[in-house]
Amino acid sequence: MDPSFFSSKSFLIFVACSLLMVPVLVYVFRTDSKYVEVCDENNGECYSASIPYRDSKLSVEERLDDLMGRMTIAEKIGQMALIEKNSIKDPDDIAKYGLGALVSGGGGKPADNSPAGWLGMVNDFQSYSQKTRLGIPLFYGIDANHGHGNVIGATIFPHSIGLGASGDPDLVREVAKATAEEVANTGINWIYSPDMDVALDMRWGRVYETFGSDPEVAGVLGAAYIEGTQSFDLGGQKVAAAAKHYVGNGSTKWGSAMSKDYFIDQGDSDISEEEMRRIHIAPFQKAVDVGVKSVMVGLNRWNGEKVSADKHLITDILKEEMGFQGFVVSDWYGVYDKESDRYDATVRAINAGVDIAMLPYNYKYFSDSMHKALANGDISQARVDDAVRRILKAKFEIGLFDENTADVYDLEVVGCEPHRELARKAVRQSLVLLKNNGTVPISKNTPKIFVSGSAADNIGKQSGGWTVEWQGVDGNWLPGTTILQGIKNAASPASKVEYNLSGDFDSLEGLADIGIAVVGEEPYAEGWGDNPNPILSAEDLESIANLKKHSKKIVVIIISGRPLDIKPYAKDWDAIIAAWLPGSEGQGVADVLFGDYAFMGTLPVEWEL
Ligand code: GLC
Repeated sequence: MDPSFFSSKSFLIFVACSLLMVPVLVYVFRTDSKYVEVCDENNGECYSASIPYRDSKLSVEERLDDLMGRMTIAEKIGQMALIEKNSIKDPDDIAKYGLGALVSGGGGKPADNSPAGWLGMVNDFQSYSQKTRLGIPLFYGIDANHGHGNVIGATIFPHSIGLGASGDPDLVREVAKATAEEVANTGINWIYSPDMDVALDMRWGRVYETFGSDPEVAGVLGAAYIEGTQSFDLGGQKVAAAAKHYVGNGSTKWGSAMSKDYFIDQGDSDISEEEMRRIHIAPFQKAVDVGVKSVMVGLNRWNGEKVSADKHLITDILKEEMGFQGFVVSDWYGVYDKESDRYDATVRAINAGVDIAMLPYNYKYFSDSMHKALANGDISQARVDDAVRRILKAKFEIGLFDENTADVYDLEVVGCEPHRELARKAVRQSLVLLKNNGTVPISKNTPKIFVSGSAADNIGKQSGGWTVEWQGVDGNWLPGTTILQGIKNAASPASKVEYNLSGDFDSLEGLADIGIAVVGEEPYAEGWGDNPNPILSAEDLESIANLKKHSKKIVVIIISGRPLDIKPYAKDWDAIIAAWLPGSEGQGVADVLFGDYAFMGTLPVEWEL
């Protein structure tokens, strides 16, 4: 064809007509609806067209395909960042960086630490996600590992070691569902539970967060916890669970911690792959089988390598061999932990199979690193698309994109009586009778009962770590029932109950028929609980000795996250009860102590007397 044609008048008229034939559509795109208003500039006609990814009648796969097809690289990278809420300096950054997830770490509470304060804070953050071009809702994550423990007024259930002692998956399912109900009614949609670590060293500060030392128990109870959590539905909104910490956290060696403050937590385990699979990976297969939405990789190392950068563990085994279809989240700062080059660390973790990085501080650095890695091929577009697809799939599956009118929230649910009764039942089922010469159960008509010990009248101590604060709290200011109050409630009017913290009853006439010492560990969390020799404090031992001087028989109730070494003393005590960390409903201890219910708990870990 003669080249001069392309500059001819005929050709130019042809091009102009062609352009006019293509309707020029102006989208008026509102992110909060399922429909978009489409206006044809040529004839001025407007009509609504559905936005597939917002249409809940379509399949998740169809909605995913539509949404992924609309996203920019920056929007995809934003979905891979998990930021702790105190690091959001300007909430507009949520839209600016297209952030996909926020977390309240231990103690990450709003100024008003009430259910209403939490709902207000979370919904405020969520409102900023709706100002983004595509309006992709935020995951908001929290540690709710023994109830919605950060919130004052929430029901505090027994920590998992106590649930492990119960060995009851139906109970665990109920506890998890009640926890999810309290969490969801404060606007939160993702919890970092269950802890499915298999605890092998009782000196570890996280034994109480696990279901114990038996991989089968960890798997069965962890799966029940996931089913309970993900079964709750609040007006179409569900809560995603996170099975953690994948993998081998409970097998680290004493003295291998990287942090100078810890001894074993976040340490290194030198075990074979066979042992890793048989003991530590096995429970997670049960989590995958019940459809857990997320798996959190730990801060620990295996044969010197960070598990969060281990492609064999995360991609080859968890995703491909075990068939995990959800998303993998790294643990707190874990991508960078102990890394000299944070760019390389980011590349290694994402290529290993981490889908969301719990940064949790610097989202700008992460965004820059990811753009750089994509640009120079260190991370493939396919890896980013796989990660984002997994994340968004979970968001669709828990209903984040679907209608949820504000009136579904019921703040009265948080700490409600039915949940407290359930927690009391869980306390009953968690108690393990370590020794008894016939002293328990105690008659409610026992004429004189003396009570002593640091954990008798202290809800903070009976709750343990991850309660309002990361390291727990001290005192009786949380709603609930202390073990002492439970004893007073259970004893009949014919019985006189006296309490003295140190067991000093010198001023009282005569011996008590029964002395009850409630003693145990101060609250702690994570590596701060690493202890070379977990034992009772001198004060607690003194309160027991004093009590014994003033009592015909004594019962020792131990409040702890793990076994304590009581071998030198156990022979002098008539009965010994392991109560673990029972939480807010101390009445459950008296229910069994006075015989209304039988002891049902069995040891979830070895405890030598
Ligand atoms: C912590 C813990 C992890 C927790 C996370 C968020 O470091 O290792 O169990 O879920 O950070 O608080």
